[in-house]
Amino acid sequence: MPKCLICESSFAPFISFGQMPIANGFLRPEERAEEYFFQMEVGFCERCGMVQLTEQPAREKMFHENYAFYSSTSRYMAQHFEKFAKDVQEKYTSSSDPFVVEIGSNDGIMLTHFAQQKMRHLGIEPSKNVAKVALEKGINTISEFFDEALAEKIVRENGQADAVLSANVMCHIPYLHSVAKGIKRLLKPKGVFQFEDPYLADIVEKTSYDQIYDEHYFYFSLQSVSHLFAMHGLELVDVAPQVTHGGSMRYTIAHQGAYTPSPAVTEFRAKEKAHGLHLPATYDRLRQNIERSRAELVDLLKRLRQEGKRIVGYGATSKSTTITNYCGITPDLVEFISDTTPIKQGKLSPGAHIPVRPYTEFSTNYPDYALLFAWNHAQEIMAKEEGFRLAGGKWITYVPQVSTFE
Ligand code: SAH
Ligand code: TYD
Repeated sequence: MPKCLICESSFAPFISFGQMPIANGFLRPEERAEEYFFQMEVGFCERCGMVQLTEQPAREKMFHENYAFYSSTSRYMAQHFEKFAKDVQEKYTSSSDPFVVEIGSNDGIMLTHFAQQKMRHLGIEPSKNVAKVALEKGINTISEFFDEALAEKIVRENGQADAVLSANVMCHIPYLHSVAKGIKRLLKPKGVFQFEDPYLADIVEKTSYDQIYDEHYFYFSLQSVSHLFAMHGLELVDVAPQVTHGGSMRYTIAHQGAYTPSPAVTEFRAKEKAHGLHLPATYDRLRQNIERSRAELVDLLKRLRQEGKRIVGYGATSKSTTITNYCGITPDLVEFISDTTPIKQGKLSPGAHIPVRPYTEFSTNYPDYALLFAWNHAQEIMAKEEGFRLAGGKWITYVPQVSTFE
């Protein structure tokens, strides 16, 4: 039986997705023979509440000089990180020469707002291609993986930080004890660590199982997060739900006793209990909902194809890799996936090998149906796809339920 990476208790997986490729491993046709797969299973640790994969590919297979996810492809996310940065500046950078660190800073989408203020900052971004984009924008960035040893080095060279930030990165790192020790070392006595990640309660409630893929080792709740950081003399002092990535939670962590925890912590802990996030039965139900969602999506796509409809995928998201592989969606069902990211275009989607094409191929020859793989950006996408709707195009979604809409 696998062991919990946080508390070392044994746990049983509640679902297996079978063999999965690297979610961001878009490939050229000639690379098909060497494609890497791993067994993707998820389990729930009854002791500390952590939901987690049982296996993750080596980090160098996912985060490297050809990493396909560029944060700045969404305008909404750019606004989100601008607000996040302003909030940190208002609340936590009042010291005489504040220092802010971001873990997994990608192309600099958030740190740019600290660089513009000429505030001391440091981005830590192991994927070299996206780190290079940030460096070119004048954002101080080092291309390394964050852990305790790196935190020690940062403190030696820069002193401790007023704020350490991280978005959609903590859930990617299996060695969280080393990360937590690093945070403990890095924070000034009143410093805060603010991070956000997809929230387990949203995944359960919306059956958004496409959040489960290689990079996402953990699926956090207040219960599991406070347990982890308490093991290292750190305390969860605030939480704030976010609409990003289909429902996320921002956690504020500080040295034990440095701040009084906000009422939101108590409120959301109670909500988690009411939703049964601490009960194995919740995850049995999640598995049943996932299996039903798959059956319904496959039926719908097959029926539409039998009716001669053209279906194109919208957004070659990492999440879509879970959907296409778990549901067995191949190019006979979905003709191609439209995506605005140059590094993904002209390649095949991981595992399912659906061609990824530039957005113009969608907009100049609308299909009958667009399968909304980037459902978390629905608002932004609907606003700009009025033309598709007016041309009679329909959308297919699978979150929270399999359905079509105009
Ligand atoms: N924060 C950005 C990027 C999220 S994608 C956003 O929310 O849009 C996850 C990022 O974490 C990738 O750029 C990846 O290279 C980086 N990453 C993965 N493991 C890391 C580690 N151990 N330390 C720092 N960054 C890491
Ligand atoms: P996202 O949902 O942010 O990421 P992931 O599942 O990988 O975490 O990815 C959005 C993808 O969708 C990205 O490849 C860019 C693409 N995209 C478009 O093609 N058009 C759009 O209008 C938007 C918002 C995103």
